[in-house]
Amino acid sequence: MDLASLHRAHVESLQRGVAAALEKTGFGALAIHSGSPVKRTEADDAYWPLRPTPHFQHWLPLAEPGGLLVVQPGKQPKLVRTLQPSFWEAPAPPESAHFWGAFEVIESNAARELVPARAAFIGDDLAAAVALGVPEEGRNPASLLAELDQLRVHKTEYEVFCLAEANRRAGPGHEQLRTLFASGDRAELELHLAFLGTTLQDDAETPYKNIVALGKHAATLHHISYEKRATPAQSLLLDAGASFSGYCSDITRTWVKGGGAAASVFAQVVAGVEAMQQRLCAAVRVGMPYEELHDESHRQVAQILRIVGISRLSVDELVKRGITRAFYPHGLGHSLGLQCHDVGCALRPPRADNPFLRNTSVIAEGQVFTIEPGIYFIEALLAPWRKSSDIDWKLVDALAAFGGVRIEDDVQVLARGVRNLTREVLEKGGGQAA
Ligand code: GLY
Ligand code: MN
Ligand code: MN
Repeated sequence: MDLASLHRAHVESLQRGVAAALEKTGFGALAIHSGSPVKRTEADDAYWPLRPTPHFQHWLPLAEPGGLLVVQPGKQPKLVRTLQPSFWEAPAPPESAHFWGAFEVIESNAARELVPARAAFIGDDLAAAVALGVPEEGRNPASLLAELDQLRVHKTEYEVFCLAEANRRAGPGHEQLRTLFASGDRAELELHLAFLGTTLQDDAETPYKNIVALGKHAATLHHISYEKRATPAQSLLLDAGASFSGYCSDITRTWVKGGGAAASVFAQVVAGVEAMQQRLCAAVRVGMPYEELHDESHRQVAQILRIVGISRLSVDELVKRGITRAFYPHGLGHSLGLQCHDVGCALRPPRADNPFLRNTSVIAEGQVFTIEPGIYFIEALLAPWRKSSDIDWKLVDALAAFGGVRIEDDVQVLARGVRNLTREVLEKGGGQAA
């Protein structure tokens, strides 16, 4: 099916879902606002680039401020475009025209007349809700938002196409940075700019700020303050994605180069995390709680700590005593879609010992999420264990120069197993850069 047909089927499925959500929550229609320019500070007149309301982008990839989508059961959705374009800035035109045919497009400054009675307003710009005459109880009602979030959990064929395309677009950037890293000393800023150049993205267009971490910087999970000078380093952690039609990819690779005893152990850690990441992708099953998979990832991290000689404690002890949490503090992954950390898969909080886990759903067909285990050498987390003789501190201190490793793929849950959207583009999860 071509993109326009996929999109039309996606919109039809959304219309059915929204009709049921409105019925359940007692509203008559939806008025979704695309967003308004937001000032960086009140002190000057510079604005942040527009991040359209994700619920608006669920219907169409138009990054235009002041747009309004009016959805009413049984009627073609109306897209109201404002007639007051700014002469200071103009939004980039959408790169593909596949979506226009699904909407009645109206250019008007009188959107208020097009908003039906009992409509709920969705969007950040509450002044726009007031201007449209939506009463307070109709502005971002929690009950309706929860229903709309659920419509974003199970991805349609159209959405999976977009997520796969977002992966395809990020792939060459990862390849290019592996090659640059392998061929000499680099600055993190240079690598970041090379990723943007290769993937043809401006900084504001990436789904999240690129994480480019050479050597010990990888111990900062979201390292985004790039070193500007070329620095000798034997490891590179790159967590960077691309966007397509509002949908995100979220991909991490870790590479190691050069010789030496510590580099050889770190290469073993990278290979261990790569192998466990693949085992975890293969273990995904419909009906399994995602948190169970996360718990399994801690057992596998414990095995790696034993294999490379960081500890001789048993797997059970390493997990129970919380030692794996000092080396692997984040969650195994999160739902992925229009937001890098997408909505709808964390309806209940994780167990207290998994505080940063962002996916507590029961795995279901059609979900798309990341699988991203890691092992890091973060002094603030290791410090409380420094007195323990169950950890080879000499080895840990030697490995600290490499920062850490994370391997991250985006997967779609199938009736049996997964489709790995990232490995369709990048065969390897990381390893030796050269
Ligand atoms: N790139 C952020 C994350 O992996 O969650
Ligand atoms: Mn992620
Ligand atoms: Mn990531």
